[in-house]
Amino acid sequence: MLRLLPLLLLSALSTATHLTSVTSLTCEASSCDVAFTTSDLTSDSPISGKITFHTNDIVQYWVTTNTSDVGCGEKVLAGLPDLTPPLSISLLEQDDRYEISSDTVTVTMMKDAVFSINDYVKEAAPLSWNGTTTTQTLAPSASASAVLGGGMQNGRFVHTDSCIGIGVDYNWEDEGHPNSVPWYMNVDVATSATVGVLRNTWAPGMYSFSSTSPSTLAHNETARFDAFYMVGSSPQDVLASYTAVTGPPFLPPIYGFGVGDSDCYHNDRHGNSTSAVLAVAEKYRALDMPGGWFLPNDGYGCGYGEPTDGDFPTNLTSLTSVVAGLHDLGFYSGLWTSTGMPNIVDEVGTAGTRICKTDVGWIGDGYEYAFDGVQLCADGIEDNSDARRFVWTVEGWAGTHRLAVMWTGDDTSDFEYIRWQIPTYVGCGFSAQAHVSGDIDGIFGGSPKTYVRDLQFKALTTTIMSMSGWAENPDKQPWTWGEPYTSINRMYLKLKSRLTPYMYSLSRTAHDTGVPPLRAMLLEFPDDPSLYSNSTGTAQQFMAGPSLLVAPVYRDEEKRDGIYFPTASDGGEAWLDWWDGSLVASKSDKGTIVDGYPAPLDTLPLFVRAGTILPLWPENNFFDEKPHDPISLELWPQGESDFTLYEDDGVTRKALEASPPAFARTPITMCAPADFLMGEGRKSEAGDVKITVAAFEGAGFDGQLASRAWELNVRAAAKPQGIEVDSEVLVEHASEASFDAAAEGWFFDASVQGGLVMVKVGQKKAAEGFTVELKQL
Ligand SMILES: *[C@@H]1O[C@H](CO)[C@@H](O)[C@H](O)[C@H]1NC(C)=O
Ligand SMILES: *[C@@H]1O[C@H](CO)[C@@H](O)[C@H](O)[C@H]1NC(C)=O
Ligand SMILES: *[C@@H]1O[C@H](CO)[C@@H](O)[C@H](O)[C@H]1NC(C)=O
Ligand SMILES: *[C@@H]1O[C@H](CO)[C@@H](O)[C@H](O)[C@H]1NC(C)=O
Ligand SMILES: *[C@@H]1O[C@H](CO)[C@@H](O)[C@H](O)[C@H]1NC(C)=O
Ligand SMILES: *[C@@H]1O[C@H](CO)[C@@H](O)[C@H](O)[C@H]1NC(C)=O
Repeated sequence: MLRLLPLLLLSALSTATHLTSVTSLTCEASSCDVAFTTSDLTSDSPISGKITFHTNDIVQYWVTTNTSDVGCGEKVLAGLPDLTPPLSISLLEQDDRYEISSDTVTVTMMKDAVFSINDYVKEAAPLSWNGTTTTQTLAPSASASAVLGGGMQNGRFVHTDSCIGIGVDYNWEDEGHPNSVPWYMNVDVATSATVGVLRNTWAPGMYSFSSTSPSTLAHNETARFDAFYMVGSSPQDVLASYTAVTGPPFLPPIYGFGVGDSDCYHNDRHGNSTSAVLAVAEKYRALDMPGGWFLPNDGYGCGYGEPTDGDFPTNLTSLTSVVAGLHDLGFYSGLWTSTGMPNIVDEVGTAGTRICKTDVGWIGDGYEYAFDGVQLCADGIEDNSDARRFVWTVEGWAGTHRLAVMWTGDDTSDFEYIRWQIPTYVGCGFSAQAHVSGDIDGIFGGSPKTYVRDLQFKALTTTIMSMSGWAENPDKQPWTWGEPYTSINRMYLKLKSRLTPYMYSLSRTAHDTGVPPLRAMLLEFPDDPSLYSNSTGTAQQFMAGPSLLVAPVYRDEEKRDGIYFPTASDGGEAWLDWWDGSLVASKSDKGTIVDGYPAPLDTLPLFVRAGTILPLWPENNFFDEKPHDPISLELWPQGESDFTLYEDDGVTRKALEASPPAFARTPITMCAPADFLMGEGRKSEAGDVKITVAAFEGAGFDGQLASRAWELNVRAAAKPQGIEVDSEVLVEHASEASFDAAAEGWFFDASVQGGLVMVKVGQKKAAEGFTVELKQL
């Protein structure tokens, strides 16, 4: 008899316990208390639950034996709505269940402890747990659905019928998850109705999704389950709820849109002196190469200082002069560390650093520890300067998107690297990771061609950097492979810097709505069911905002196969080639796939959606090199479209924190016939095209231009009869030379882009706006 006791204990430990029934459920205001029984009859620790409606669409389900354990708490749950006055919810008790409803959501708690929401997210069995893990088991959805989210999951973005790890795995390659988050979305493919689920925990997890048998969602915590369910009509809708709860994606400073350069400049290779970085910075300028910022040290045995400063120098005087020298050349500076940031007050406050990069040597334990490290960096920048946070990290968690660029870690570059990076970034967007990147051409490996192909597509993302010092060919600057690579890299970095007003406006949208600048195809075209899989054609392409379709070359080829042009349910989309203006898919084409698109090394396959309004800066190598004057509007008219140009001082927090916030939003609208088609050999519906740039809205900002010149480049197959600006006739130039020399006027060139009307409207006051009408094209 005595010998049986340990065996019984052992079997009790290894057997899962589960909820068995609800003994009571009572609601007060918008929160309900639930008492449960469990299958463990020997336990005397009571288990209770709470079902709380935080809004009509956001419901928290929390089951625990320890009501003082609040999970991530306020660190991650930055924005829980204030529930005064409480929402009104109703409770209905039936024989076998309780139903708790807000205006839009009904939670059903069966008396046998099975939980469901809107009949859509449905437990297949009650919650269960053992000595290490609490598991929720969900029944398969009744209709076809897709699972998205999980944060950064290298190489994939659709998790339907697959398993994803949530937690630290130190795997920087395909299938690693260097910034995973305990969050996923389930989207009904037919209706795009979406439910998002955030687990309020720091514990590692494993989600195994199945469309045919029950899915299991497990985290390593015992007798504790805490999740927020967010219900919406689309993934965008649910992203808004997710960022309402976990906080908005941060808005990077505008220097962060230039390429960053990092290396250990205080080492043998660079003469043991941090100031060696200045020669490299000068080279960017001498080579007419765009560049925005430097991380001149490397916490792995570098530090910052001069030859006399020892192996791990921290010489503030030296750092101050390096930061000032870099600033004189148009660069901002930051520090990179494997050992923490004990001196960040002086580094930011005295020396003037503005950027911070964590690394595994410091925050590698992940979870709350990593979250706190990243928070320390963000606070270190913001508490000691008027600048905005600009932090790069791995091992992010839910909420880290408020603080940092999510980085894929120490990657090895080859064409395979490019292939898996694309769906990685696409997937991050479903978890509000709006600014994500991996080192250009990796930290290890690399080659001239992979450098070009990788930089080419990253030029259409927000934050990018290179990391020198570790590859066999250690320098990773855009010129290190010589010609023709240098010139191609320069061309794409210049395109990136010209696109800054577009990407910056999209980044503000991400901050305001959660919808990222780099978008999965399905975020723009949720009605197209073929976009809900990660097959080629959808996994290796993305939308840069609403307008640009990017289909990177990810093989050692001079062509691109399988480019997919979606159609929208509201009558379709026309797509045009960025480079020559040709029509690649017309409105009547449904889901065109293009194979064999010619893509020599200098060509990124890049396409524009008809109706696009794209604001560009003049060519520049860094954001404050020259005034942002004129603004060029690149236009592809078709039907009615709009874009709001967002601007602020780019550097300080006045756009985010001041009252009123210091920014300017300039609404731009374009109106053309619905079948106005641009380019050669196309039947175009004749009619007027009208472009209105409205007076700016908002409080304005320091350094805002009271007036500036605007240029419009309008794709149109035919020459207009005439052009009016604010109802005054604009002069037509007889030659391009005369147009180029003039401050105002227009010129039509039928040979460019299948027909291009170039318009200069001259200086316009930001407070007034203007209208341009192209008559009877
Ligand atoms: C607890 O449950 C998890 C998830 O089902 C399982 O992987 C693990 O082996 C179980 N542990 C024990 C001690 O039974
Ligand atoms: C309950 O949770 C709190 C907060 O996490 C923790 O400090 C405490 O030790 C827990 N109590 C028990 C009995 O596990
Ligand atoms: C997406 O890709 C992953 C990784 O290759 C795979 O496990 C998964 O089954 C794919 N999912 C779909 C829906 O194609
Ligand atoms: C989580 O629990 C599972 C099952 O018990 C175990 O295999 C895994 O190692 C645990 N993960 C961590 C990070 O502790
Ligand atoms: C840099 O320092 C190392 C270690 O002190 C030394 O061996 C090396 O010669 C120095 N290099 C230069 C270029 O000064
Ligand atoms: C720190 O750097 C400054 C400027 O480079 C130099 O003059 C000074 O000697 C250094 N201090 C130490 C302790 O090495």
